[in-house]
This record gives sequence, C-alpha cells and structure tokens, in this order.
Amino acid sequence: MKVVILKNAAEVAAYGAQIFKKQLNKKADSVLGLATGSTPVALYNELIALANKGELSFKHSKSFNLDEYLGLDGDHPQSYRFFMNEKLFDHVDIDKANTQVPPGNAADPVAACEEYEQAISAAGGIDIQLLGIGRNGHIGFNEPSSSLASRTRVKTLTKATIDDNARFFAEGEYQPHLSITMGIGTILESKKVVLLATGSAKAEAIKATVEGPLTAACPASALQLHKDAVLIIDEDAASALSDPEFFKHIERENQQLEKKLGQ
Ligand code: F6R
Repeated sequence: MKVVILKNAAEVAAYGAQIFKKQLNKKADSVLGLATGSTPVALYNELIALANKGELSFKHSKSFNLDEYLGLDGDHPQSYRFFMNEKLFDHVDIDKANTQVPPGNAADPVAACEEYEQAISAAGGIDIQLLGIGRNGHIGFNEPSSSLASRTRVKTLTKATIDDNARFFAEGEYQPHLSITMGIGTILESKKVVLLATGSAKAEAIKATVEGPLTAACPASALQLHKDAVLIIDEDAASALSDPEFFKHIERENQQLEKKLGQ
C-alpha cells in the first residue's frame, strides 16, 4: 500500500486529481469508480478545472458510484445521484448515460445489486476507484463486520455513520438507514484504488488501515491485499501513524526516481 502524506486537504485534492488526469489521458475510455461525501469534493473541483483548461476529458469514460441510499430517488437532493450530478457530472463532458449510481429506488434491490455487478463486469471492470473513509474505517457503505469478500448488496448503516451523515439532512428530514453499496470484494477487483482522507477525525481509521491487522473490524484494512492502492492523506489524517516520516521518505525517493525516468 502506498501512503502519500501531504500538508493539507488542498494538496490532497490536487495530487489525487493528477492521478485521475494521468488515467484519463492514458485511457480515454477508462471506467471510473467514484465516491461521494465531503472529502472528494475538492478533487472533483480540481478535475472540473483541469477539464475546463482542456487538460482532460471524460467524453469516452464510464463511471460507477460506490453507493446510494436505499429509498431515495435520484432527484432527491440527498441522493448520491443528485450529489454526483451537482458536484461533477453537470460540469464536465461526461455522457450521463454512461454514469451509474446504484438505484436507490429499485423495486427489487437484491436484483438491482446483481445487475450492478454485471454492469461493472460488462464495462470491463473498474480501472480506478476513488474512496473516502469513514471514522469507523468503512469504505463505500461497508461498515465494520462486512465480509472482506462482499459484493454489491443492501447494507444497514451503523449508528455512527448515520450520525456522521446527519449533517447533510435538514432537521426532521427522513434519513435512510439502508444503502446499496459495492462490496469490499467488488472494490478489491478495481485495477487501481485511490483513497483520500483529511482531518484528524480520520487519523485512527487510517492507522488501522495501514498498520493492520487485516480485519473486518476495519473494512479499509482490506486494501492491504490490493496490489495498487494509494492512500493520499493530509498531516492530520496521518497523525496517528507510528512512522509517518518513513512514508514521506519513500515519496521523496519515488519522486526522484520518476524524475530520473522522465515520467
Ligand atoms: C461515499 C462513501 C463513504 C465516504 C465516507 C467518508 O460514497 O462511500 O464511504 O467516503 O463516509 O465521508 P466523508 O468524506 O464525508 O468524510
């Protein structure tokens, strides 16, 4: 697992955006795995800015989002479909017909989960998956105790996640307690994984992710099994790591090597 520690959230977003730019410029028809939540918004803003400058295009790409609240239509302002339209899709040249978010309003959610898995496979699999991380170590809505081999399915949210996300809902507004989420097994099949974390509230989850053990108690620790996972985190999110200087040293060495190789 590669860990890149940067000064602040702005640097994390800019670094992450460069990885997506590289991916799209290398493979215009990339299949992107996307995330919602507060953390990726700055990265999406960077991608919009790069697209406006003509440095990247989403024209031939496809996307699959990690998760959606069960019980919300895509036009509900708290739905993740609405979020993605507002934060990214409405501002770039992606064909919305090529963007998929799990259907929160599916009449048969179990069948919808199976269809979502099939659609990912039919697209050739996810080339690059963006992730945030919950304070409890969740990725997507794979809460602690999720099977490390899980596939897209209906998942009950923990009280901690419901409380964390209550900030997005108005007082008295219905807040779903169920979701459809890609599974940990689904995420692990992505060719590349980019996880972003900023702020000290994520420090313990990052420590558990990086320093192990590999356990369903911290779903993100499953990324230890992925051969191309990069964690891009700020100083605050890195603050509980035993040896952050080691990761900074590795990153400096990598930068030098890349310069030498002209990458
Ligand atoms: C969102 C998602 C969640 C969030 C996580 C962190 O699609 O799957 O796992 O990434 O809850 O959320 P923020 O970034 O709001 O702290």
